[in-house]
Amino acid sequence: MSVLEIKNLTYIAGEKRILDGLSLLIGASEIHALLGTNGTGKSTLAYLVMGCEGYRPTSGEIIFKGNVINDLKIHERAGLGITMAWQEPVRFEGISVRDYLTLKTKDADPSLYLEMAGLHPELCLHRMVDKALSGGERKRIELASILALNPKLAILDEPDSGIDMLSTQDIINVITAFKKNGSSVLLITHREEIALMADKASQLCRGKIVCSGSPMEVAQYYKARKCLVCDAEVCVYV
Ligand SMILES: Nc1ncnc2c1ncn2[C@@H]1O[C@H](COP(=O)(O)OP(=O)(O)O)[C@@H](O)[C@H]1O
Ligand SMILES: [Mg+2]
Repeated sequence: MSVLEIKNLTYIAGEKRILDGLSLLIGASEIHALLGTNGTGKSTLAYLVMGCEGYRPTSGEIIFKGNVINDLKIHERAGLGITMAWQEPVRFEGISVRDYLTLKTKDADPSLYLEMAGLHPELCLHRMVDKALSGGERKRIELASILALNPKLAILDEPDSGIDMLSTQDIINVITAFKKNGSSVLLITHREEIALMADKASQLCRGKIVCSGSPMEVAQYYKARKCLVCDAEVCVYV
């Protein structure tokens, strides 16, 4: 059974059709890269799957492990094992990195997850999450906290967009850690070199999947800047 199945999902906000009949399948421990340039609807899809406040499908279905979750609230989805890393790392104040990592999972060994995210535990466990952390460090700590949750599905919205960019290899290492932990990953990115590490990939344009298949095929399509939805040699969103 697939972990996530999205069937014909449409989302209209005001006058704008942001997602337009989008379908997608993600299997167990599978990494699915979603490629698309700015403004194509990637983050909107992430918010709809996570169930963020105000984001409910206009039509279509979001199915998690066989159950339609369209109407579930964000905390109910979190309870099922869906979690998300936002495009901008979340800021917490007044707690140490150790406390932040064990907020939801008291039994987790924070050092282990920091290492998986490429940080030295002894250098950062005692630090305060809001003090003197670079953008790249905050991003890694956020990814470590998501790893510690052992999610069934992790939605990573442009994990490479931090204040300090993490290197491509850093990102690949941490996503590999999710897969090793048994999580499925919806990996949102606009960089084809990151999409190449996925098991499958899809390209989004104007709220529609325009190409789906092996990451290599989809990356070629993305790089070729051809888009059948725009019906143009050069996609207007590129
Ligand atoms: N609530 C909203 N109302 C109207 N338009 C929106 C709303 N949210 C996002 N958009 C527009 O929808 C498009 C997709 O946005 P987004 O999902 O953030 O794209 P991406 O993450 O691919 O850059 C953009 O053109 C954005 O301006
Ligand atoms: Mg976005």
